[in-house]
Amino acid sequence: MALMPPIERQGWQQRWTFIAASTGAAVGLGNLWKFSYLAGENGGAAFVLVYLASVFLLALPILLAEVIIGSRGRANPVSSLHHVALEAGSSRFWQIIAWLGVAASLLILSYYSVIAGWIFAYVEAMFDDVFIGLNVRLVGDHFNHLLEDPRRLIIWHSSFVALIVLIAAFGVKRGVARAARILIPVLIIALILLAVYASKIGDIDTALEFLFKPDWSALTPAMILAAMGQAFFTLSIGMGAMMAFGAHRPDRHSVVGMLAMVALLDTAVALLAGLAIFPLVFSLNIEPAMGPGLMFVALPYAFGQMVYGDFFGLLFFLMVACVSLTSGVALLEPVTAWLVERFNWWRPLAATAVGVLVWLLGLLTVFSLNLWADINLWGMGVFEWLDFISANILLPLGAWLIALFVGWWMRAEVISDEMFDDHPWIFSLWRLLLRYIAAPAVLVIFIVPLYQRLIG
Ligand code: TRP
Repeated sequence: MALMPPIERQGWQQRWTFIAASTGAAVGLGNLWKFSYLAGENGGAAFVLVYLASVFLLALPILLAEVIIGSRGRANPVSSLHHVALEAGSSRFWQIIAWLGVAASLLILSYYSVIAGWIFAYVEAMFDDVFIGLNVRLVGDHFNHLLEDPRRLIIWHSSFVALIVLIAAFGVKRGVARAARILIPVLIIALILLAVYASKIGDIDTALEFLFKPDWSALTPAMILAAMGQAFFTLSIGMGAMMAFGAHRPDRHSVVGMLAMVALLDTAVALLAGLAIFPLVFSLNIEPAMGPGLMFVALPYAFGQMVYGDFFGLLFFLMVACVSLTSGVALLEPVTAWLVERFNWWRPLAATAVGVLVWLLGLLTVFSLNLWADINLWGMGVFEWLDFISANILLPLGAWLIALFVGWWMRAEVISDEMFDDHPWIFSLWRLLLRYIAAPAVLVIFIVPLYQRLIG
């Protein structure tokens, strides 16, 4: 008995393990790669502000709703939804949330693995000191050469899929949570240092103006949808993945407090990444709207100029590889868990089956970067379509249904049962937000641009 930590301490540890595991799922390529290039493409500050509003007014309340469903159901998303829908006396219709989630997980993970593969390729390049003293044009050429080479892309994409399958197969979830406890704080410190360095060698004034002084002419329905989709993507909501975390949450701690912490840490990482990348973008005359390559040109250039830059660059890209692994595992987990729990599949087999499917789908993204670069429909290539369908259609739809179900269908007593030690006013405020702000706003933001796109 003497070896057991005192109850109080155990409680804190559980709390931090939950926050670290959820933050590990939330923080990933979405914060670094996607946030920066979307902000660049969508005119900067106006996008950033709509994104911040979406994170705290829409995504955070819906994240709580999602975690509550998992916490009540205590199983994989499909079974949890089945359970809570029965309990609310409503139909099996709501299980559609889980099916949408399965589709979204597979699509997102398919391109996520390819982009994580770019990170792996950059770890290798940093190891080989490729960027030392290069000018920005050569750094850009390095990136383009990678995209033009399907063989290299496939090697790295395969390595990423193999790693997450291995981690999921052997169920070392505790290990992932433990790794995240160290990774996230170290990543935040590294980004702060990088932002300071970028402000020294880059153009911090223009960057601050771009990121925080809105030009409201950029505000269009399509941009608002992109910002909201990014808010959902970055907090990993709308697809049932966070239900899996709810199923394992510690009982004796306020969920609201823990999730607010997750949202704050996640937002901090995205903003710091912006502060590290944009000063360089402006001093180097990189086009902010250049697209998905933005961080892969700006950051390696900075490391190439830095004293010991090869070493710090290697550490940095290794760290980003690790946080994309923790997110990749969380994306793979719900579908794997469902195959295991529902059909009694052997875990390694289930993880491998999902991995193979994702790997095959990932080839669509790989080839859309080179062999199929000319294919486009309504101005979007294959990769853009995958991203649009998942982040701008499936996630908002899933998030809206979750808000609707928990806001209007689930009984208040059942919900408050799952909220430990939260003040009644927090509960009321959250339910109001969910019912009257999140649910209608997500619907309008989702429908209007789609309508414009299809009709206009
Ligand atoms: N939030 C992750 C990131 O920013 C990506 C992501 C989206 C995700 N949906 C998810 C991760 C579901 C885990 C589970 O990189």
